Amino acid sequence: MIEKYVDSKELKQLLSTLLVVVGCLIIAALFASIVVPGLRNANKPATPTAVAPVVGESGWLDPTEFPVQKGRVIPPVDPKTLIEPSAALTDAGKELYEANCLTCHGEGGRGDGPAGATINPKPRDFTAAEGWTHGPDIPNIYKTLMEGIPGTSMAAFDYLTKKERMELLHYVQMLGGYPGRGGSRDAMQALSEELAAPGEKTTNKIPVSMAIAKLESEFVPPSPLEISPDTESPGAEVLRRTVTDPTRAAQSLADSAVWRTGPDTLAESVLLNAPGNGFNVTTATLKPSEWQALYDELLKRLNTK
Ligand code: HEC
Repeated sequence: MIEKYVDSKELKQLLSTLLVVVGCLIIAALFASIVVPGLRNANKPATPTAVAPVVGESGWLDPTEFPVQKGRVIPPVDPKTLIEPSAALTDAGKELYEANCLTCHGEGGRGDGPAGATINPKPRDFTAAEGWTHGPDIPNIYKTLMEGIPGTSMAAFDYLTKKERMELLHYVQMLGGYPGRGGSRDAMQALSEELAAPGEKTTNKIPVSMAIAKLESEFVPPSPLEISPDTESPGAEVLRRTVTDPTRAAQSLADSAVWRTGPDTLAESVLLNAPGNGFNVTTATLKPSEWQALYDELLKRLNTK
């Protein structure tokens, strides 16, 4: 065998050389298969992942452009038609519930909606008898919808119409398993009067695009920073030395309020992108005392506006 041709010392040398060669080959293979493809793609922009818009009847990013609707006075209704549960009320309530409540309270009203899991306190389980804050009777749920539960994520739904609140309430009671459960005679009487009271209004509605156009037309850009002021303060001098574009500088300072915390944060936010913020590159060499002077000057000017 191989011992015939080499002695044991030479064999050891041979084997260790072989080991080194194999090791080098493994490292090279790893380099070629992991590092090289990574380098090749390093400068390629990441493929954008499509973000599916959330679509709901009135949810966030809802692309629905509803028509302009002027607020109007709703004619008073006979409270009896809203207090007695009916299929018409619960059907309408179901639709409202799915658009406004389901994310927290869950499809079956057990407080297990997708958004409910992370909420503290948990959304009410309508089927549980215990633990209600206002209670599950008709006047109680009406109160919850009018006022919300302060200190929890249960908001007031006071912008809905009385009829819509009643529709929701009957659907909630149906989910909970006590349809039509009324409250004390006094509470029911008070609710009846509230429902019958005239003068209920709906609010004006305008499409989202119109609201955005309105915001844009009302936007007033800040006036440019005055860099050749009549007063000769140390800050004014620094300002003259560092500001290249007074309009940009005024805009960038107006856009972010953090710089107002102190000279250090001012320095940080200006230097993030000095030219883009309307300052020149020498701003990076300002001494702490100069930042302080600049800070005092900016505060003085931008606060008196
Ligand atoms: C953002 C989550 C969220 C949404 C949306 C939400 N709720 Fe709630 N709701 C809660 C939480 C949390 C509580 C529990 C508050 C507590 O523990 O007192 C609650 C409690 C309630 C209660 C029980 C009140 C009581 O007396 O204890 C009712 C009834 C109720 N919600 C109805 C509704 C209806 C109807 C809607 C839709 C119009 C709705 N909620 C939408 C989070 C939500």
